[in-house]
Amino acid sequence: MSDVAVEISMFERIGGAVVIDRLVEAFYLRMDTLPEAAVIRAMHAPDLGPVKSVLKRYLSEWTGGPKLYSPEKGHPRLRQRHMGFSIGNAERDAWLLCMRGAMAETVADGGARQELDVALTKLADWMRNQAGNPHDAATART
Ligand code: HEM
Repeated sequence: MSDVAVEISMFERIGGAVVIDRLVEAFYLRMDTLPEAAVIRAMHAPDLGPVKSVLKRYLSEWTGGPKLYSPEKGHPRLRQRHMGFSIGNAERDAWLLCMRGAMAETVADGGARQELDVALTKLADWMRNQAGNPHDAATART
């Protein structure tokens, strides 16, 4: 036994680039077809190809794999990048519905899936920007 802790990234735990690829494809397939996701599908361009590629690169980096996003795009500033879209509880829930279905289909490790779910739920929650959301309380009062 070595006393050196070896940290395994989430990227490696779930199966690397192949699984990120499948996850993102499954996610956008749901967004493209589920009636519950129609409102967020309509925010996206007709061709989902470019955003698929960006989300794959983002998730690779975010899970601790190859840094494929920031060298090209700079600091993610995800909330800022979503400000042009009106995101409230319904939009967050539609996003999470697609993501949870995609994770159930493509991420075999249940523990890793659970951790990803917790982290992505927080992130999606933070993305809400409609007036009246808790982190925008000051704006909501004006
Ligand atoms: C909460 C509900 C969310 C909605 C409604 C939403 C919607 C969108 C839309 C409409 C775009 C622009 C797509 C385009 O250019 O055609 C976008 C881009 C993006 N979203 Fe989201 N999103 C949500 C949450 C998230 C979350 C939680 C993440 C992180 C895992 C995320 C990651 C991204 C990334 C990486 C991009 C590309 C940004 C760039 O151009 O660099 N989104 N999203």
